[in-house]
Amino acid sequence: MTKSNQTSISAFILLGLPIQSEHRYLFYALLLTMYLTTVLGNLLIIILIQLDSHLHTPMYYFLSNLSFSDLCFSSVTIPKLLQNMQSQVPSIPYADCLTQMYFFLFFGDLESFLLVTMAYDRYAAICFPLHYTSIMSPKLCLCLIVLCWVLTTFHAMLHTLLMARLSFCEDNMILHFFCDMSALLKLACSDTYVNELVILITGSIILFIPFVLIIVSYARIVSSILKVPSAQGVYKAFSTCGSHLSVVSLFYGTVISLYLCPSANSSAVKEMVMALMYTVVTPMLNPFIYSLRNRDIKGALGRVICKRKISFWL
Ligand SMILES: *[C@@H]1O[C@H](CO)[C@@H](O)[C@H](O)[C@H]1NC(C)=O
Repeated sequence: MTKSNQTSISAFILLGLPIQSEHRYLFYALLLTMYLTTVLGNLLIIILIQLDSHLHTPMYYFLSNLSFSDLCFSSVTIPKLLQNMQSQVPSIPYADCLTQMYFFLFFGDLESFLLVTMAYDRYAAICFPLHYTSIMSPKLCLCLIVLCWVLTTFHAMLHTLLMARLSFCEDNMILHFFCDMSALLKLACSDTYVNELVILITGSIILFIPFVLIIVSYARIVSSILKVPSAQGVYKAFSTCGSHLSVVSLFYGTVISLYLCPSANSSAVKEMVMALMYTVVTPMLNPFIYSLRNRDIKGALGRVICKRKISFWL
C-alpha cells in the first residue's frame, strides 16, 4: 500500500441506480409514488393506533413501532436517492455518508428485532390464549421495545465507528444508491479485515437468529392451529401467516444473501435491485400486509372517520 495517495477525501459520489437516461423520469415517478405510499400508509397506522383506544394493546403498539421504523428506514435512503436523480453531480459529504450508514443500520436492525417481537407476541397469543395478558404485560412490552433500541444503537454505532477508522483514497465513486456498508468497504484503501469479520459475526447474530426465531414461532402457530382443525380457522391461519412470512422472507432473504453470502460474481446491478427490495418494497408492503388487512384496523378507521364527521357537523 502506498502512503503517498492517502489524501482523506471529503465527499463521495453516489452513482445511483444503473438506469438509462430515457427511463429516468419513469423510475423517478415510480420511486416517488412508492415512497409516498410508504409514508402515508405508515403514518395512517401510527395515527389510527394513537387515536383509537380499542387498539391500545401490545400487538398494536408493536405494529405502530414497526410502522415508525419502516417510515424512518425508507426516509434514510429514498429522499436522498430522489434528490440525486435530479442532480448532475450526485455527491454526498463524508460525514453525511456515515450518518446515513448509521441510521440505515439502526432502522434496519430495529425492523428486524420488531419482526421477531411481533412473531413472539402472536405465538404467545395463539398458543397460550389464556395466559396471554399475563405474559405480555405492559412492562414486558416496554422492556422488549427498549431492548430493541439498545441493541440496534449498539450495533449501528459499532459499524459506524469501525468505518470511521478506515481511510479512503482517490476512488470515491460508490457503486450504489446509498452509503452501503459493503459498497464503502470496497473503496477503502486501508485494511478492512476487522470490518468484514465484525460484519460476518454480528450479521449472523442480528439476522440469522431473528429469522430462525420467526420461523419457529410461525411453525408453532401453524401446528397449534392444525391440532384443532376448522376449515375457516385453517384458511385464516395460512393466509395471515403466509403473508407475514412472505414479507419476512423478502426482507431477510435479500439482506442475508447480500451481507452474509457476498459471492464474488454477484454484479453491482443485482445487488442494487435486491437492496431496492428491502429499502423500498418491504417498508411499503408492511402496513398493508400487517395492518390494513386486519379487521380491527378497518373498524378503527371507520370509527375515527365517523367521530370526526360527527364532531365536524355539531
Ligand atoms: C412503541 O411501543 C411502546 C411500548 O409498547 C409504546 O408505548 C409506544 O407508543 C410505541 N411507539 C410508537 C411510535 O408507536
